[in-house]
Formats: sequence, C-alpha cells, structure tokens
Amino acid sequence: MYEYELRKYANDIFESENFKSTKEYIQHGNMSVQEHSINVAKASLFIRDKFKIRCNTKDLIRGALLHDYFLYDWHKSDIVNPHRLHGFFHPSRSLQNAQREYYLTARQRDIIIKHMWPLTVIPPMCREAWIVTSADKFCSLMETLHIHKGKIHNRKLGKKYAMPSTVLH
Ligand SMILES: [Fe+2]
Ligand SMILES: [Fe+2]
Repeated sequence: MYEYELRKYANDIFESENFKSTKEYIQHGNMSVQEHSINVAKASLFIRDKFKIRCNTKDLIRGALLHDYFLYDWHKSDIVNPHRLHGFFHPSRSLQNAQREYYLTARQRDIIIKHMWPLTVIPPMCREAWIVTSADKFCSLMETLHIHKGKIHNRKLGKKYAMPSTVLH
C-alpha cells in the first residue's frame, strides 16, 4: 500500500547509499531505521487519507522518510558519541544529514526538526509535521510492542504467538 506514491516522490532517497545504510541500524525491537522510516511515511499517508487532510504529499513523504536520518546506531555508544540524549538531539542531526544530501523545503525541515515534539518544546508549524509526529508515535508504539513478538505465551494454545502486525505493512 502506498508504494506508488513513495516511489513517485522519493525514488532518489530509496536509491541513496545513506538511506540504504539505515537498514543496518536498529530503531525499536528488531525493526531497522529504514523499515521504521517507511512505516512512518505509510502511516502518514494513511492519516492523510483517513482524516482527509489536505497537504503537500511530496513534503509529507520526504520529511517522513528523512525524519530519523541520524545515520548511527543509537544503541551503541562510544566515547565520542555516548548517544545518551539521542531523543533530544537526533532531530537536528537528521536535519543536518538530510540537508547535506537533499534540497529540503521549509515543511520538510519542520517535519524533521519537530518530529519529537513535545520533547522539542516548539510545536510543529505545518499540518505535514503534525501528521508525521503523530505517525511516528503510533509506529514507535507498534514497533515497541513487537519487541515481545514470540515472547507472549498464549495459555489456551499452549504455544507462543506473534503480535498482530500493523495495518500498514
Ligand atoms: Fe526520531
Ligand atoms: Fe521515528
């Protein structure tokens, strides 16, 4: 679902080596940053359609795909990058990285820098950024629940069962 729109507006991002490298970084549970970013883009389109929100689809998709473009493994800290305050600082790191590679509109910049709101204090200034920050929270919750995938015991069946996948895959 939504693959056509994603390819139409962000094929260059999908083809970039840096974006491909996000497959190697874990976001939540066993979900890679790349899968998470695509999930957030799809969830954003789903929210747009569900609530019939008029917005700039290209900005919505590109901002969503690049919102976590920090390009490091935040679970692995080192002396140079302890990543202790990853939640606070990764939006600005993602913006820096994205700006180095792509021309970003004001809306795309707002999406990336505000996606951790309310941590970022200043709220999103456009509806695209509101959609992505909501989609990100929804996806993060779903992905975090997936940590328990295979670990929840179904007493009736006497065997492990997987959490249901999100409607967005
Ligand atoms: Fe993030
Ligand atoms: Fe995210």
